[in-house]
Amino acid sequence: MHTLSLLAALVAAQGAVAQMTGKLGDAMAVMNNPPGASYVAMFTEGSGNPVRGKVSAMSSPGGKSVTFNLMLMGLPMGGGPYSYHLHDQPVPVDGNCAATLAHLDPYQRGQAVPCDMSMPETCEVGDLSGKHGKIEGPEVSKSFMDMYVALVPGIGAFFGNRSIVIHYANSTRLACANFTMEKMPGSGCGMGGPW
Ligand SMILES: *[C@@H]1O[C@H](CO)[C@@H](O)[C@H](O)[C@H]1NC(C)=O
Ligand SMILES: *[C@@H]1O[C@H](CO)[C@@H](O)[C@H](O)[C@H]1NC(C)=O
Ligand SMILES: *[C@@H]1O[C@H](CO)[C@@H](O)[C@H](O)[C@H]1NC(C)=O
Repeated sequence: MHTLSLLAALVAAQGAVAQMTGKLGDAMAVMNNPPGASYVAMFTEGSGNPVRGKVSAMSSPGGKSVTFNLMLMGLPMGGGPYSYHLHDQPVPVDGNCAATLAHLDPYQRGQAVPCDMSMPETCEVGDLSGKHGKIEGPEVSKSFMDMYVALVPGIGAFFGNRSIVIHYANSTRLACANFTMEKMPGSGCGMGGPW
């Protein structure tokens, strides 16, 4: 094949791929999460919100990927399967889940086309249930590793300053919680940094 037609074929192939991934391409795997970094989102029962429990997120061994652990109770029977996503903004003090805005989506993929679990790099970074499966009530205990979210502050895929939202099957927001740092990278013993 001519170099030129090879190039054309390559460009065409890339064009085809670009349509089902983000405008900025596939998500990059994050290999340098700070060792020991640990964040938690606490769900406490509130007015109209029956969900309680927590979602913890910590650097996987060697900083390659983030390990999530969902331990939740009180998901209403019949409202699922529930999806859950990292959202762009934290939860305001009044607890209004709508204010968390859209899914964390640094590669600008959008949610119109559902995530294909077999190609997680093409999914919205924040679409955890798309990549790892929805949950059913009333109780769930579930763990998984995600290669594309980040506990490295300063990059778009960082979610330590953001939130997680649980949605009913009809996509109405059921409950939401901020992530907060549970353990300092490098510190042996929980809360309490140098400040
Ligand atoms: C979505 O489903 C929940 C649980 O079944 C229900 O309470 C809520 O009203 C529904 N929202 C809409 C917009 O239909
Ligand atoms: C979530 O975090 C933000 C930013 O730190 C804070 O302003 C807000 O009050 C927190 N929300 C709740 C419900 O604690
Ligand atoms: C969270 O941190 C990221 C990267 O450090 C930053 O780009 C983003 O604006 C922050 N988001 C909020 C809601 O503070």
